[in-house]
Amino acid sequence: MVAKVIPVAEQRYPDSAAVIPDILEAPTGVLTDALSRPLRDLRISVTDRCNFRCVYCMPKEVFGKDYAFLPQSSLLTFEEITRVARLFADHGVNKIRLTGGEPLLRKNLEKLIEMLAVLRTPEGKALDLTLTTNGSLLARKAQSLKDAGLTRVTVSLDALDEAVFRRMNDVDFPVADVLDGIEAAHRAGLGPVKVNMVVKGGMNDQQILPMARHFKGSPVILRFIEYMDVGASNGWKMDEVIPSAEVVRRISEEMPLTEAQANYTGETAERWRYRDGGGEIGVISSVTQAFCHDCTRARLSTEGRVYTCLFANSGHDLRSLLRGGRSDAEIQGAIAHLWRQRSDRYSELRTINTEGLSLARRKVEMSYIGG
Ligand code: GTP
Ligand code: 5AD
Ligand code: SF4
Ligand code: SF4
Repeated sequence: MVAKVIPVAEQRYPDSAAVIPDILEAPTGVLTDALSRPLRDLRISVTDRCNFRCVYCMPKEVFGKDYAFLPQSSLLTFEEITRVARLFADHGVNKIRLTGGEPLLRKNLEKLIEMLAVLRTPEGKALDLTLTTNGSLLARKAQSLKDAGLTRVTVSLDALDEAVFRRMNDVDFPVADVLDGIEAAHRAGLGPVKVNMVVKGGMNDQQILPMARHFKGSPVILRFIEYMDVGASNGWKMDEVIPSAEVVRRISEEMPLTEAQANYTGETAERWRYRDGGGEIGVISSVTQAFCHDCTRARLSTEGRVYTCLFANSGHDLRSLLRGGRSDAEIQGAIAHLWRQRSDRYSELRTINTEGLSLARRKVEMSYIGG
């Protein structure tokens, strides 16, 4: 098959041109990759900026005051994002997660949410429309996000202890404001609110129990995330990873847990329930128990590149197709073409060769393509 290639200018990260195949097939709502994994989730980064400098994500030494964030003209507009999301929905995406950087920093985000909320799956169902935030602006925005059509939110919170949390976010942001955001989201009906805690050994692992105690018995679902070697900035070391099995052991010793069934195939979190009825927690073990075999996630960067893996070192440029007058069918063809070829399974391969892989190449930053 001969394919047309649209060249694009080299920018911050390497990218390859999105390829439009010669034969354009109408989307069927089921698109599988080279490892038979369907396309189900689209994670959209709406800004590469953040008002936090979490040590594991945007360390100050790299993301300092001279760091060149993307200019406004590079960002996809809301119309462009919505168009891409619609084309992905036709291919079977039923969940959209807005990420960043910090997505609530993008101006008029509610407008985008309104535009995405009207999208439907091929079966006519509304999409699960969610967002990952650091919570700093959530108390102020929860109600307007809900009114715009957001289904739920996930809030990152790495500690309850003031000093530890401030050391993690590195901008002196107080815990209480994030807790207010979580409360406001719950009140606005953006539940079940999930809280994500990245556990970095020696930094906040002593906060595992206080966090578990705090959220036990509340409607919040707390999830512990293994610290990953994502990006190229955080100086990741395997000995700073606290395995999820250890997290479960520590909590279970004080508050006994029992394993619960996954909500859906490909769920990142393994679910555990308190035996006394105090609700559930989750553990996300991308390092010690990779879940690539069920990975249905595509990522759209702020400037319109599709990444088929969180650890990819290059993306597929869609923006030049969007701005080059290409038809829906052509762009849909390009999406189908890149997904069919997808064979990424970085985390599984890392398990086989931890050191070699993480040092081998320059990976894209998580603040650029979104968690
Ligand atoms: P739910 O829809 O609530 O199940 O959310 P989710 O777990 O799919 O998304 P969320 O953004 O809450 O993911 C939590 C964390 O899991 C992220 O911040 C990452 O640390 C990790 N994670 C999510 N997706 C992937 C992935 O595709 N690969 C890897 N290695 N880690 C991931
Ligand atoms: N390891 C694991 N999770 C990370 N995140 C960012 N960087 C890392 C990392 N190195 C995730 C966290 C955070 C979300 C925005 O991105 O879950 O809550
Ligand atoms: Fe910002 Fe989230 Fe990254 Fe922290 S983890 S620096 S809050 S994008
Ligand atoms: Fe999916 Fe890549 Fe994460 Fe594996 S490492 S689960 S393929 S995003």
